[in-house]
Order: sequence, then structure tokens, then C-alpha cells
Amino acid sequence: MEMEHGMGMERGKTFRETMGPERIGRIIVREEGRKPAYLASMDTTDPYTLALANAIFWTDQLAEHSKFMEMLLPIEDLPAQHEQAVKFRGVFEMLHERAMNIEIEEGAVRELSNEAISQTELLVKFKRDLIDQQATGKIHSLLWPTFLDHIAREGERFVKQQKMFMDGKYEFDREEIIDFWSKIMWEHAAFIAHLLDPEEVDLINQALDENVKFKQIQKEHPLEAQTDPVPLDVDHTIDFKMAAVKGIEAAEIKSIITPELADHVRREAVFFSNELRMADMIANITPKAA
Ligand SMILES: [Fe+2]
Ligand SMILES: [Fe+2]
Repeated sequence: MEMEHGMGMERGKTFRETMGPERIGRIIVREEGRKPAYLASMDTTDPYTLALANAIFWTDQLAEHSKFMEMLLPIEDLPAQHEQAVKFRGVFEMLHERAMNIEIEEGAVRELSNEAISQTELLVKFKRDLIDQQATGKIHSLLWPTFLDHIAREGERFVKQQKMFMDGKYEFDREEIIDFWSKIMWEHAAFIAHLLDPEEVDLINQALDENVKFKQIQKEHPLEAQTDPVPLDVDHTIDFKMAAVKGIEAAEIKSIITPELADHVRREAVFFSNELRMADMIANITPKAA
């Protein structure tokens, strides 16, 4: 269980594993940030392993979305909405705990997935309802519409992927991955830029550069022969986010970004990197050397 395994670019320790004549499934854990990131190993083809890895990763992200919403829905002004966010946090923390403790076994993974899917659908609806209530001026919170839409889309994609894995499919569509995640990355960069202290001019500019870069990548990301330049851009953004986590933790960066939020977006970049490398590996594409 504790074996370090190295497959090309892959780093991390094995967390769960299943082996059979026709299935390879391994969940790895990468521990370079504040919180570990759980990912399917790049050679995983077993859909239940993919489903469990996905559930472990996203139940934690969704619990944190609920916590961020809790923080930004002031209890004094919006007690009902605040309470709802608290409840969702509890639900997803429990689901995450469950996901961390089950084996890669069809019945258990199916049961967990079904519940995670239905709870995520409810959470997405809550996020989208808040967007509508804010858009019509019924409520005023500290949640940006763009942030609510961002975390709603993350939930929707988790549901879509989870359903695909539960149908026994494991397609990694490079175009879909780049399209979905580039937008997530440029939005993260915009969030960072807007949450930094106004005096952090250099960092704000760096974040805005990342924003422009990923908007461009979403529009066009040509393969150069059979080499893909995007994984290295993703590596760069992981480094940028890791530096932000450390700087914020050490109070060297002035901002209203919590270390938890900084690490949350870092892990999503790590997840993007993993999905893209899986898709590239299947398509026989290699990352473009620096
Ligand atoms: Fe997120
Ligand atoms: Fe995100």
C-alpha cells in the first residue's frame, strides 16, 4: 500500500488498488500541498476505480464549496441560505469519509456514487438558485455570480463523469478536458487576481496573465506534431498556485484568500493535469518538452 510507484511523469503513493485479468485500477495520493490530492493512476482502465477516485476527489471539493458558501452567505442577513450551506457541508464531509473508507468493489462504489450524484444535483440546484435570487435582487451575498456558476459547473461535470463511469465507460476526450478545465483555470486566475490585496500589483498581474493564457488555450491549443504543449502550461499554473498556497500560509502574500481556498484551486489544477495526461497517453500524444 505504501509503495512509491513511478510511471513516467506519475508521482504519488498507492492508496487503493485492484487487479484482475482485464482490469487495472489504482488510486494514487499526492501529498505536496496542504491536503492530499487523490487521483486515478494513468494506467487505470477499471471504471469502478475511476468512479471511486472521482468520488474521493469531488466529495471533498464539494464539501469545501459548501464551506466557502457558508463563509460568504452572512448568517445575520441570510440565515436560511447559510444554514443550507452548513447542511451541504455536513453531507459532503460524510460522503467523503465514506469514499475514503470503501474498497474498489462494484456494489459499494455504486451505492456511494448514486448518493453522491443525487446530493450533488441538489447542491448544484442550490448554487443555481442563488444565482437567480441574486440576479433578480432578491438576495445580496458576498458570492460572485461567476464563482457560483464556476462551482455549479464543477458539480455538474462530476455528475456527468460519475454517470459515465457507472455505465462502464472510460472515455477521456482531450477536447472536452481542455475546454472544461481551461475555463476553470482562467476563472481561478481571475478569482485570485480579485482576492489579492490591491497592493499586490505584481501577483495581480501574474494572475491576469494566467487568465489570458488559459482563455487563449481554451480557444486554440494545436498539437505540435504528436506533442502537446498544454500539460506544461498546466504544470506552470500548478507551480503558481503552490507558491500562492505557501505565500498565503506564511502571510507573505496579502489577500483575502484563505489557505484552504488556495489549496482547493491548486488541487483542481493537479486533477486537470492528471486527466489531460491520461487522455494524451491513450491518444499516444506526449507532453512537449520544455
Ligand atoms: Fe472547486
Ligand atoms: Fe474551481
